[in-house]
Amino acid sequence: MTRATIEALPANAFPAARDALTDILHACVHAGASVGFVLPFPLERAGAFWDTVAASAADGQRHVLVARLDDRIVGTVQLVFAQQDNGRHRAEIAKLLVHPDARRRGIAQALMQAAEAVAHQRNLRLLVLDTGTDAAEALYRRLGFALTGVVPNYAADVDGGFVASRFMHKELPADAG
Ligand SMILES: CC(C)(COP(=O)(O)OP(=O)(O)OC[C@H]1O[C@@H](n2cnc3c(N)ncnc32)[C@H](O)[C@@H]1OP(=O)(O)O)[C@@H](O)C(=O)NCCC(=O)NCCS
Repeated sequence: MTRATIEALPANAFPAARDALTDILHACVHAGASVGFVLPFPLERAGAFWDTVAASAADGQRHVLVARLDDRIVGTVQLVFAQQDNGRHRAEIAKLLVHPDARRRGIAQALMQAAEAVAHQRNLRLLVLDTGTDAAEALYRRLGFALTGVVPNYAADVDGGFVASRFMHKELPADAG
């Protein structure tokens, strides 16, 4: 059972969180995660990624959650809101990352449940995501996501090969109230 606390990371809190988020992304990619980057992946590249996320969060295009364990940020996930006029009911779950030394304590599950609560508060009706990771697919299935389909060789792997992406979705119930 996790002892982590999950909280929203508002745009003005990014500077204080930047080093920890950079470390998490850097460590996850070096541990083999297929989350958009390939090796070599210097720390500066990871930091620059979070700067673009901060700008997007400031524009209201995404909502970032972090998990703290003993006051240290060890995990994160994002809701990226569809910007199309016909997609206002939809968000993508992106960059679910838990530091390799904080895994298998339920932190990713707690982050996903918090992300779904945010989606519900915003009256979203559909969450989509894609993953190249067996561990993540198992977690998403457990949380009620269905497999939409598999695209072979979708992304370059950290090692220079290719990895299939499993696209998944979860429909959210309309607010009964
Ligand atoms: C996938 C990831 C986010 C899981 O984080 P975590 O905090 O360790 O996950 P949790 O402890 O919440 O696990 C919840 C459930 O997910 C499944 N799961 C998590 N890690 C798993 C693994 N390595 N192998 C198999 N199942 C796994 C299990 O069902 C687990 O429940 P259990 O521990 O009771 O068996 C983490 O391994 C990670 O950051 N990986 C690299 C980045 C990545 O691939 N992110 C997903 C991008 S789509």
